[in-house]
Order: sequence, then C-alpha cells, then structure tokens
Amino acid sequence: MDEYRGQKVLITGGLGFIGSNLAIRLVQAGASVSIIDSLAPSCGGNTFNINPVRNDVEVTEADCCDLDLMRRLVRGKSHVFNLAGHVSHTESMKDPFNDVRMNCMGPLTALEACKLENREARVIYSGTRQAYGRPDVLPLVETHPLRPVDVNGVNKMAGEWYHIVYNRAYGMWTVSLRLVNTFGPRQLVTDARQGFVGLFIRKAIDGEEIQIFGDGQQLRGFNYVDDVVDALLIAGINEKAKGDYFNLGGPRPFTIQNFVESLLRLTGRGSFRIVPFPEENKSIDIGSVYSSWAKYNFLTNWAPRVSLDEGLAHTVEYYQRNKSHYW
Ligand SMILES: NC(=O)c1ccc[n+]([C@@H]2O[C@H](COP(=O)([O-])OP(=O)(O)OC[C@H]3O[C@@H](n4cnc5c(N)ncnc54)[C@H](O)[C@@H]3O)[C@@H](O)[C@H]2O)c1
Repeated sequence: MDEYRGQKVLITGGLGFIGSNLAIRLVQAGASVSIIDSLAPSCGGNTFNINPVRNDVEVTEADCCDLDLMRRLVRGKSHVFNLAGHVSHTESMKDPFNDVRMNCMGPLTALEACKLENREARVIYSGTRQAYGRPDVLPLVETHPLRPVDVNGVNKMAGEWYHIVYNRAYGMWTVSLRLVNTFGPRQLVTDARQGFVGLFIRKAIDGEEIQIFGDGQQLRGFNYVDDVVDALLIAGINEKAKGDYFNLGGPRPFTIQNFVESLLRLTGRGSFRIVPFPEENKSIDIGSVYSSWAKYNFLTNWAPRVSLDEGLAHTVEYYQRNKSHYW
C-alpha cells in the first residue's frame, strides 16, 4: 500500500469498528490520518479502538452532518473514507428519522463538502448487502434487484447511490463496497443492535448461552475486518473501481450455527440454543444471504484471505486481552 505513504486521509466514523482498523493500517502505511466521529451512543465508536496510533491521528469529535465543518476537513485530503453510519436494522425500524440522519445526511454531507471544496478527493463508501433485501438467487451478484426489507437497507442504498450520482454528475472518484457481516477486533460487543456477531463473541468468551434465532441454518458470508480494510484501500487506488459498486464477501458461506460452533470451540466455553425469531426481527429477516465478490476480484484482484477460524482466533484473543475496554 505504498500509494498511501504521505497522503492525507479523512475517515468519517473512524473511531468505530471498521474505521479504526482502517486508521491503524493507514498510519502503518505512512498516511496522515484525520478522523471525524461523533461517538454516537448507539454505535460502536470507542476511543480505545485507535489506541495503537492515538498520537498519530487527528480526531475531531463532531457530527459529520455539519457541512461547514466537513468543508474544512476535506480540504487538501487525497481520500475520504465515508464510513460513518448506523448499522442496526432493528433500531432503524424504531427510529427511522435518526437512521436517515446517520445513513443519508452524513454520507451526503461528506460528498457535498468534497464537491464544494475538493473534487479531486477519492471518496470510498461502506455500503451493505442489506440493500438487496431477500435474495432471489444465491450468491448475490451486483445485478440482483435492490429491494431492502428495512429502513436501514433503504437508507444505506441511498447512501450508496449518492456516491454513484456524484461520480456521474461531477466526475468525482467515488466507489461503494457492499459489505457483508464483518467481524474482528474493535467491534461493539455489548448488545445485539450492531448485529449478532459481536454479541455472540462476547457471550462465548463469557461462557454464556448464545441464542440463535430461526433454525441456525441461515447462510452468511462472513468477512474478517482486515480483508475489508484491504478492499477499502484498493478502492482508493485502483482506477478501475472508480464510479462503481462491488460486493465483498468471505472465502465461503457458513451457517450461523457453524459460526457459533467455531466460536465455542475456540473459547472452550459457552453453549447455544436455537429459539424462534422475536417478532421485531422476524418481520425484517432476510433468510440465507451471501455474496459473490467475483466482480471486484476480476477488476482489482481483491480476495478475502482470512478464514473464519483464523479470524475468530485473532478476534477472541484481542477481546480476552482488552476486555475491560469493551465489556
Ligand atoms: N459491521 C458490519 O458488518 C457492516 C456491514 C455492512 C456495512 N457496514 C457499514 O460500515 C460502516 C462502519 O460500520 P461499523 O461496523 O464500523 O460501525 P460502528 O458503529 O462501529 O462505527 C460507525 C461509527 O460512525 C460514527 N458515526 C455515526 N454517525 C455519525 C455522524 N453523523 N457523525 C460522525 N460520526 C458518526 C459512530 O460514532 C461510530 O463510531 C457503516 O457505514 C456500516 O453501515 C458495516
């Protein structure tokens, strides 16, 4: 990643799970990193996340919906990783207006700031496979219709399409990657609002019972965070990705039960039980879902490199070592 040496990079949501892993990698690559993060209470932001590089990054604790502030922050930046957002599907149904603010207004403000101040900045967006909704066929490919089943999926889809529109209308370098269930160090693990992955990891480490909704046979394409960071970095340097959207995905799909069994094997503690879906989850459930990342691989050579077992081993070790900062 020599291309990032000496570059000035802004990460929105950089104290969160994926943003902080990206910030650490960029500092290691020799970039000058700035972060804007509001530490929104229902998100995964945590100042400890950037502990290894805390003296090397400039942090602005503020809301990226503030256009004047964003105009100042994007000036002179080579790259803007537009990651600030709200991950929770159930929360988006309870408070849809907050989800619009975090998943539409935030990303759009960053784009508009770049349009007004710095059209040369390369803007990389973290989209989601949730925009597809319930799949007609698997694996999901980028030509599959977008039919989100929850407010989060609708707003994240809009967030993505602002980026595509700003490329087509203003010629800006924008890319959207459609992430799948991502796991790894620095993820929020205290509750299920961010999805089941972090919560299951905490329960397995604590030796508690994990409840799997449905029958446990739903397939997912889990991505270790380092692979996602690689994909984000590539999107900022490979011209072929410009103006387009791409699926990410794990090496192969696993059932949610497989995921839990691997986790329990690693921690040597805890148990699981299959339980019926609670009503609030059932109405927005998408069944089995995993994505083909062939399009991104074809254009950029990106491929996930970390297996589920290897990624889980790093993750469990990280939380065991840093438990007090996450529990
Ligand atoms: N984690 C996943 O599995 C996953 C899957 C698909 C897409 N994504 C997307 O990746 C991005 C990062 O997700 P994450 O898992 O790191 O979540 P996270 O909650 O850990 O991080 C998001 C960060 O954004 C910040 N933030 C939110 N709104 C903000 C605002 N208006 N101004 C400033 N900061 C704000 C939060 O404080 C938080 O630190 C999100 O856009 C999410 O939709 C994540």
